[in-house]
Amino acid sequence: MDHFLYRNGQLYAEDVPVSEIAAAVGTPVYIYSTATLLRHFRLFDEALDWGPHLVCYAMKAASNQAILKTLAAAGAGMDVVSGGEYARALAAGVPGERIVFSGVGKTRDEIRTALEGGIRQFNIESEPEMRAISEVASALGVVAPVTVRVNPDVDARTHAKIATGKSENKFGIPIAKARQVYAEAAALPGLKVVGIDVHIGSQLTELDPFALAYRKVAELTEALRADGHEISRLDLGGGLGIPYTRSNEAPPLPVEYGRLIERELGHLGCEIEIEPGRLIAGNAGILVSEVIYVKEGEGRNFLILDAAMNDLIRPAMYDAHHDIIPVVEPEPGCEQEPYDIVGPVCETGDTFAKARLMPALRAGGLVAFRSAGAYGAVMASEYNTRALIPEVLVKDDQFAVIRQRPSFEDIINRDSLPEWL
Ligand code: LLP
Repeated sequence: MDHFLYRNGQLYAEDVPVSEIAAAVGTPVYIYSTATLLRHFRLFDEALDWGPHLVCYAMKAASNQAILKTLAAAGAGMDVVSGGEYARALAAGVPGERIVFSGVGKTRDEIRTALEGGIRQFNIESEPEMRAISEVASALGVVAPVTVRVNPDVDARTHAKIATGKSENKFGIPIAKARQVYAEAAALPGLKVVGIDVHIGSQLTELDPFALAYRKVAELTEALRADGHEISRLDLGGGLGIPYTRSNEAPPLPVEYGRLIERELGHLGCEIEIEPGRLIAGNAGILVSEVIYVKEGEGRNFLILDAAMNDLIRPAMYDAHHDIIPVVEPEPGCEQEPYDIVGPVCETGDTFAKARLMPALRAGGLVAFRSAGAYGAVMASEYNTRALIPEVLVKDDQFAVIRQRPSFEDIINRDSLPEWL
């Protein structure tokens, strides 16, 4: 459930008409709902209420300071994957002891920064990285809390570009090798083993792959404990999928996911961490765009929008489906026509949808891409020198711009010229 609903013939974001925000801020624009962000965070938090736990929001999904602060104030920790994300989390007031650091290529600089600023744990992804963390920690005279991310070789049954738990993927250490790697970790002076980490992919729409992976983690926990390691924490990653269409069968709910975790891992007495990103932010955001032209093509009509692939890359990159709805509510039973919905960028890939049935729209009309809150603004670029679009956060009947649209001057002034020009 989200808070983008039609009311009085208009799409609202909570208690604010979307058209009002578009008029004030311009289009294209990302709009987020505070109530939806909080609702989704709390669903996870409550689903794990049966034991000690921390929900570490995977901030790669949407990392605006206002979003981070909103979630942090509700008790969220953060999952970060770069020095930049770590800095953003600290800037949003998240204490180091609530930040976990994931990612296959943490640099020594990033490791040092996190050790100096405080960190809950590093999720180690390889043996060379494990040695680097130990060396950096030893040089600082501290001990780094770590888990090892294991790759359980499980098919997450999701898009190949976002599956991470198969042996051919670059992520983690093969689970069969885990005991050997933990033995080395325990012997390294700069590390303290605190648990196990696993993340098998994103936009999972079934629970079975989680169950398979978590069962393997349970077995490994027992084996590592028998080897003398203190395994007190299990980081289970993110990945629970969201409904991208209204018609789709809905993916499992956080409460069902929480029950599965309790069933597979509850008996181990570990603190549970999860790293959901998409389910918290995805349906808490929309992208609003204006129709620039309606173009009649041969055998098809195009809706040419002012949003493009640089603003929302998911359709071009993953063939992802986003529902696109008019901001003015269509009359019930009104006639619909198929449109190819495209942006202005000079690539055929700049296509959001093909032959999508839409009520007749005119130039100047507004549409909203649903489920655009996760992996939307964060993956945007300035390709074609199109400015990064603004972000707006709504709370009840208030809204605020949480990222300004840069001017062309701002963009141009970011370049610097060599002295010979
Ligand atoms: N933890 C780790 C270690 C991850 O790599 C990810 C996502 C997450 C947590 C959060 O997963 P989520 O709960 O959001 O599924 N850009 C793609 C998705 C990439 C996901 C990358 N890793 C998309 O737009 O579909």
